[in-house]
Amino acid sequence: MAAMAGLMMSGQAALALDQVRTTYLEKCGGCHGIEGLSGQTYIPTLRDRIGTLSCTPEGRAYLLTVPGVSMSLIRDDALMAQVMNFVLFDLGGHSTPAGTRPFTAEEVHTQRGHPLSTTDLPAVRAQVWARATACAAGHR
Ligand code: HEC
Repeated sequence: MAAMAGLMMSGQAALALDQVRTTYLEKCGGCHGIEGLSGQTYIPTLRDRIGTLSCTPEGRAYLLTVPGVSMSLIRDDALMAQVMNFVLFDLGGHSTPAGTRPFTAEEVHTQRGHPLSTTDLPAVRAQVWARATACAAGHR
């Protein structure tokens, strides 16, 4: 009976993961690539890189407020949190600092109220990246 329950649990988990991956593929993968490798210089590589941003609070906020995320058609906070956790922990790989907290639906909800507003996104992005990179270097 316990084994049966375990099987059913893992079945549900697999289904949830499938939904998250499918959502990433449909809503993000066209630009960022199935494996997080966009192949385009103007679209950032997520694989083994993106986790660095979560080293600073501003980088963590940027992850949720960058236009591709904040303006996404994924309107469900819980699903968006799961997609971003897939991005951070699966695609991010070793770039994600040990002990990084997963995103929650509440955090997604809060950040939706503060979309990134700037006329010079490349400059903001460069600064956020520079501080996160310094932060991550300090943790090695
Ligand atoms: C139309 C193409 C496009 C789509 C769709 C898209 N993005 Fe992006 N994404 C970009 C571009 C371009 C940037 C660089 C910042 C900018 O110019 O907006 C970016 C930046 C990012 C960043 C920050 C990376 C960095 O180095 O600045 C993350 C994280 C991200 N996207 C995740 C996602 C996720 C998750 C989705 C799906 C919900 C998504 N993106 C959908 C094009 C896209």
